[in-house]
Amino acid sequence: MVEYQPKWVDEVLEPDGWSVSSGGVVTLGGVDVMEVARRHGTPAYLIDGKTVRARAAAYVRALKAAPPGSGAYFAMKSLAAVPLTRLLLEAGMGIDVVSYGEMLTALRAGAQGSQMILHGNNKSERELRRAVETGITVVIDGNRELERLEAVAGALRRRAQALLRLSPGIEAHTHSYILTGGEENKFGIPIVTGQAEALTLEVLASPWVELKGYHSHIGSQILEVEPFVLNARAVMAFAASVRERTGFWPQVVDLGGGLGIAYTEDDRPPAVAELVAAMLAEVESAARALGQRTPALWLEPGRSIVGGAGVTIYTVGERKRTPGGIEFVAVDGGMGDNPRMALYQAVYRGVLVNRVLEPPAARFTVAGRNCESGDLLTTDLALPEPRAGDILALFSTGAYTYSMASHYNRVPKAPVLWLEDGVVKTVVRRESEEELLAADAPPDALVRDGLEAATG
Ligand code: LLP
Repeated sequence: MVEYQPKWVDEVLEPDGWSVSSGGVVTLGGVDVMEVARRHGTPAYLIDGKTVRARAAAYVRALKAAPPGSGAYFAMKSLAAVPLTRLLLEAGMGIDVVSYGEMLTALRAGAQGSQMILHGNNKSERELRRAVETGITVVIDGNRELERLEAVAGALRRRAQALLRLSPGIEAHTHSYILTGGEENKFGIPIVTGQAEALTLEVLASPWVELKGYHSHIGSQILEVEPFVLNARAVMAFAASVRERTGFWPQVVDLGGGLGIAYTEDDRPPAVAELVAAMLAEVESAARALGQRTPALWLEPGRSIVGGAGVTIYTVGERKRTPGGIEFVAVDGGMGDNPRMALYQAVYRGVLVNRVLEPPAARFTVAGRNCESGDLLTTDLALPEPRAGDILALFSTGAYTYSMASHYNRVPKAPVLWLEDGVVKTVVRRESEEELLAADAPPDALVRDGLEAATG
């Protein structure tokens, strides 16, 4: 079969696992995408299984060169679902969680506490208790948290395993909402003010908290290696200074996630192997300079595992042209299943699946179905003139879409489907409206006992 590649779609944007036959039949993971749309409906999040496996394997392989105890922990916030978590555990990853719900998801998937990291800038009592009971590494993100963690661990008479989250003052080029390594944000403890060192000394003095090492995550969708190396350097310099004062040397250095993916032809992310090798080299050389053992390297990739593996499919409906010339095409999903354009001005590439061989007619703005003018999925998308019933596929939508979905306008969440070797498996089924209504109190909950008369 001749593989046809529409020439207006840059090579880098064709998702791995995506293939177009000479007759215009589109498959993902060997599955006919139009068939998936017919069987499972739209909108739906499709995940190319092989791509996820390959990305996970790339991290696991790259970390083979790192000291024992090193590992890649999947940042579940990017795509949270029990079966996916299980698959990633089996692929050799650990799991990074940031709420009780994510913790339960990982535990249900079979994760051991030793395979998990708990994040959060304001963790609940319940989260801390469960983490200590289960042996999950807690990333301490503030003075009060240390006190609370000590109290919880003391009450359970069990030492908490902890990392300290540093704020290293590294600025990477990414959207300010997803930038976390600078000093002016809510995450981490600033190194520059001396607060990080002071807190480290407190943790080291605590009988109930065992400090395994340091953590620093500088942001997300980063497309250069350099900021990661600078981050490693900053963390190791901090480790050196604490060592000088106390003799403490970390067993673990966790450099977070953040590797970007290609959303448009302008995005050229470095390879996982290249990134990991660069960070490892920095950590090793800093340790060697002090004659210290190289700490285990932990990473927390999310987007770079699942982002590029995802394709969201929608059905085209309304079509409008504004007096100012905006070419709108509306689809049956929107900010409820993907808020990234509304939040970060994210831009996506995509195609009309059923008309993939047709040349584009114009550049379209894809609008969602939610009641909000800012409910857009992407702009400047080159498509043939869309017709009602066409199936639109948006690429690179595996990360921070389903996991950020909302019930705005009481639209149920779309299903997550796994496509691999010509087979479709359900990761998360489609929600129903009945499920949404199920949490509401009965209709008369507010109008009993004469309340209706009093207000009417
Ligand atoms: N570790 C920590 C402590 C994090 O805060 C994050 C992401 C990660 C790891 C994973 O980063 P990744 O490898 O996925 O870049 N909703 C935004 C992204 C928010 C990222 C939050 N933290 C978006 O849709 O772009």
